[in-house]
Amino acid sequence: MPKRPQYATPSPVSGLPEHARAPLPDELTPLLGNRTPRQFMRRYWQKKPLLIRQAIPGIAAPLQRDELFELADLDDVESRLITHFRNTWNLEHGPFAPDELPAVRKREWTLLVQGVNLHDDRAHALMNRFRFIPDARLDDLMISYATDGGGVGPHFDSYDVFLLQVHGKRRWRIGAQRDLSLKPGLPLKVLQHFEPEEEWVLEPGDMLYLPPHIAHDGIAEGECMTASIGFRAPSAHELTAQFLYHLAERADDASDNARANPRYRDPAQEPVSNPAALPGLLIERVGAILANVDWNDKDIAAFLGTYLSEPKASVVFDAPERALNEQKFVAQAKKSGLRLDRKTILLYDARSYFLNGEAALLSSKLKKWLPELADTRCLEAKRFVTLTDESSMTALLHEWYRAGWIRMGALP
Ligand code: SIN
Ligand code: CO
Repeated sequence: MPKRPQYATPSPVSGLPEHARAPLPDELTPLLGNRTPRQFMRRYWQKKPLLIRQAIPGIAAPLQRDELFELADLDDVESRLITHFRNTWNLEHGPFAPDELPAVRKREWTLLVQGVNLHDDRAHALMNRFRFIPDARLDDLMISYATDGGGVGPHFDSYDVFLLQVHGKRRWRIGAQRDLSLKPGLPLKVLQHFEPEEEWVLEPGDMLYLPPHIAHDGIAEGECMTASIGFRAPSAHELTAQFLYHLAERADDASDNARANPRYRDPAQEPVSNPAALPGLLIERVGAILANVDWNDKDIAAFLGTYLSEPKASVVFDAPERALNEQKFVAQAKKSGLRLDRKTILLYDARSYFLNGEAALLSSKLKKWLPELADTRCLEAKRFVTLTDESSMTALLHEWYRAGWIRMGALP
């Protein structure tokens, strides 16, 4: 077995403002019902549901109803409208102009807006509270708005989710049933036979954690909003397909090297009278070529880093309209610090860092500050000042700033 890479010691994140940071692994937190993240992960994560009353006491919805509707009107935001009028499920995909949404006094409809963390600092800060789980697993924060009686029907998800009530009330019913068959012919996944075992009404600040495959149904009691903090768990099929694609790209990079990329040869081919038949020799030789495809832990880490830091297809970075030159950028960062843009994904391992889908070497110079920036998502002004003797650092950060990957100023 090759030795696993030793990771740089993660930088402490405890200096971040309370509303923007996740609890430390052994810190008791109301977010998890006065448990520590370690206790939660051992007892509940991927194992069983947990209802947490007042996980975030006094919470206010990160967005007002109309702000959410405005997001659903944008081209680069994924939104869905689910109605259950006259007992019929219907699903439409956004964007939705405000006059395309049903009236808010009409019962039984819900608007789901995906990736709100990419567009709103408050939603992003809320999602950051869940960073006791690795970024590589964290997907997005979705917000649903529902009118009285609204919901998406009893269903199950293939991902873990924290369902945080942020406005109004929602009645959740859940069950660990085995029969996950779906009603045929519907535009959304609705269970054929829902057998709830537990039921609660969640109020603002209450939260329900569900591992994958737990049947659930949430019905709004009056107008309500729920934030879902969701995780990504690619299937074996998806990982295999993406890894093979990564290997192909790696091979493409080496394709100029004739020794690393020899062409198929068949000096022993006999003449044939059935030219359309695939030669057995061809199958055998290609089998031998494929058996030679090899990879190691480094390739797997490089694949995972690039794949998991790749922004979603809809993501567009906003470069500053009038970017500061490097000197002014450094002067400004010394005063205000800097932070990763909400849309930036920065991951690292012992050898490399992965920024928005691109891999680069994590040199010993970069190790002084890059893991810290990745873990805390910011470099405070004071910290920036201590690091500025490194001109390579300021040049790199300035390049990222010009691309819209980092922003001036502390975390909002
Ligand atoms: C919702 O927020 O309405 C649905 C979330 C879910 O059930 O996964
Ligand atoms: Co669900």
